[in-house]
Amino acid sequence: MSSCGVAGCHNPGTAEDGVILIDYASIMQTADVRPGNPEGSDLYEIMTESDPDDRMPPPPNQPLNAEQIARIERWILQGVLDNNCENSQCDTLNITFGAHIFPVIQNTCLGCHSGSVQSGGVQLTDHSQIAEVAASSRLLGAIKHLNGYSAMSQNGAQLNQCIITQFEKWISDGTPNN
Ligand code: HEC
Repeated sequence: MSSCGVAGCHNPGTAEDGVILIDYASIMQTADVRPGNPEGSDLYEIMTESDPDDRMPPPPNQPLNAEQIARIERWILQGVLDNNCENSQCDTLNITFGAHIFPVIQNTCLGCHSGSVQSGGVQLTDHSQIAEVAASSRLLGAIKHLNGYSAMSQNGAQLNQCIITQFEKWISDGTPNN
């Protein structure tokens, strides 16, 4: 994302169209990325626009090359995981609800657990609802695919180990609303 999260465009100071592309959490919160669905993701669509007026990054910047676009397509198809090529950097020290927990819930869970859709009687719309489900151990049971719980995300890939560890840390911290 080094072509995007630069001063003057999608860093927090400028945030064109409200889109911030400096790290995983900001991308998940602002860029409308849909796990498993590149064509439905604004982030992907806008990089593959043929009309230069609509394309990102805009002229005079070069469009992303086919290899870069294919890599982002693959990342979306694999479920938009917070990983990197070495998969070695997993921040488990400073976990916050706003940066690590809620973006994952928003992108992978809310479709089935908000508003009138309360699958399994579980609502995950805001911090207090999520903390309540976490306190009952159903949240970890579901995302860790433990015996006796329905495996979540339903019909989807299991969240990656880093994200699961971050959920565990946030819960052992007492599910703070930070
Ligand atoms: C495609 C729809 C769908 C998605 C996406 C989804 N869920 Fe669910 N969820 C369900 C359904 C349906 C149930 C009830 C399943 C059952 O009772 O067997 C359920 C049940 C649960 C339960 C209760 C589990 C238990 O055994 O008590 C929890 C907790 C949960 N979901 C959390 C999540 C989380 C966290 C995510 C995102 C990582 C998620 N869900 C994504 C449909 C979904």
